[in-house]
Amino acid sequence: MLEEQCLGPESPVLKILRTTDEVNQLKDVDTILDKILFESRRFANADAGSIFLVEKDSLIFSFVQNETLFKGEGANAALYQNFAVPISEHSIVGYVAKTRQALTIDDAYELDPALPFSFNKSFDEKSGYRTTSMLTIPLIAQESRLVGVMQLINARSAAGVVEPFDVDARTYIPLFCNNASVAIERGIMNRELILRMMKMAELRDPTETGTHVQRVGSYCAEIYGTWASRRGHAAKDIKRVRDNLRLAAMLHDVGKVGIPDAILKKPGKLTDEEFDVIKMHTIFGARLFTNLTSDLDRMSMEIALCHHEKWDLRGYPGVPYEEVWDPAVKMGCKPRTGEDIPLAARICAVADVYDALSSPRSYKEPFSDEKCLEILQKDAGTHFDPEIVEIFVEIFDVIKAIRGKYAENWAG
Ligand code: C2E
Ligand code: SIN
Ligand code: SIN
Ligand code: FE
Ligand code: FE
Repeated sequence: MLEEQCLGPESPVLKILRTTDEVNQLKDVDTILDKILFESRRFANADAGSIFLVEKDSLIFSFVQNETLFKGEGANAALYQNFAVPISEHSIVGYVAKTRQALTIDDAYELDPALPFSFNKSFDEKSGYRTTSMLTIPLIAQESRLVGVMQLINARSAAGVVEPFDVDARTYIPLFCNNASVAIERGIMNRELILRMMKMAELRDPTETGTHVQRVGSYCAEIYGTWASRRGHAAKDIKRVRDNLRLAAMLHDVGKVGIPDAILKKPGKLTDEEFDVIKMHTIFGARLFTNLTSDLDRMSMEIALCHHEKWDLRGYPGVPYEEVWDPAVKMGCKPRTGEDIPLAARICAVADVYDALSSPRSYKEPFSDEKCLEILQKDAGTHFDPEIVEIFVEIFDVIKAIRGKYAENWAG
């Protein structure tokens, strides 16, 4: 490659070009934030970091990684915290958002008192963590729009000793961030497009709210992450599949747009005939993705079609992919079972039913955590892939954190 000849394989510029390329292949905003923060931290060998996104006049804490504090299973619960910092010069991230200049701090505890901002020690005090060096960078996209702020914490020498961010980090990470900001904006737009598509379905079915689909998307991404790590899949491959899975799972019930209101919004039990009409939402949904031009289309199709199939034969619709367009499509003509059900759909089945169980419906009250887990475990091996239920129980603290982040305003 020409670039390689000019710059040498280990040149930081080349590393950034290559990483920017990888970021540009991702679609969902959460996967993009994860990748940007991971690669920036790796460049500076930084122990921790977080990303805040701009929302109105605030910075919303949107993503965090910390090698020292968040280790092992369940650590991901920390990802789903929610808090906001005003864009003002009193905090470090607010100051960087306001001035739009990267800021390097060698020791957060030795700040010049003349500076307008101070370091908020409350996180360190609660966690016992010691924040020392910081590199805080504004994320600016096209037309100088401020998208957010990234903060890297505790650069380390090769021997693991905390040290100030060096000149390479201060030069190249902001460069990478300029490109990354464009990807973040695109990711936010993708997410909004899907939520808008779901709004159409929501107009038809009041239970399919934006928060419901975001919960189901996140549950699926977390379950898949554990499933694939257990098999030793490469982190890069896991991220790519998770990215598609999160979006595809959000669309699992999009086919409900094709179901008449009188049935979908019926307050109470459905007759067998009415339920047969509801079953068509799997086929209507699959029809939206039959062009199969991308991995995302394929996975969306598999999930829409197969999320009500069951591990031991009694699910629906049991229709092969090639036949979803047949006007005389016959339900149950090709029963799907076990691993014939695509992995993405097996994961979505657990996530969707859990969310239906833990939420109110026109036909039921929400169930307690114990009751939800009891139902899932009782149906493991009959309705559900038993390994998926096992993983779900194992990461239940993360699941609850997701439920907290995308909480419903039931009254509204
Ligand atoms: P949904 O409300 O999102 O429910 C999704 C799935 O969660 C259901 O798929 C079912 O597997 C599970 N689920 C929901 N509530 C319960 C429950 O109380 N106990 C147990 N064990 N599982 C539960 P299913 O049955 O194929 O239904 C698909 C969709 O059909 C539902 O989506 C809902 O929109 C509609 N539906 C199903 N039953 C009724 C009903 O009795 N009345 C009305 N109005 N709609 C219903
Ligand atoms: C995998 O096994 O990681 C692939 C999942 C899929 O694409 O369905
Ligand atoms: C798959 O369905 O993609 C993987 C099958 C499995 O190992 O569970
Ligand atoms: Fe469904
Ligand atoms: Fe659903």
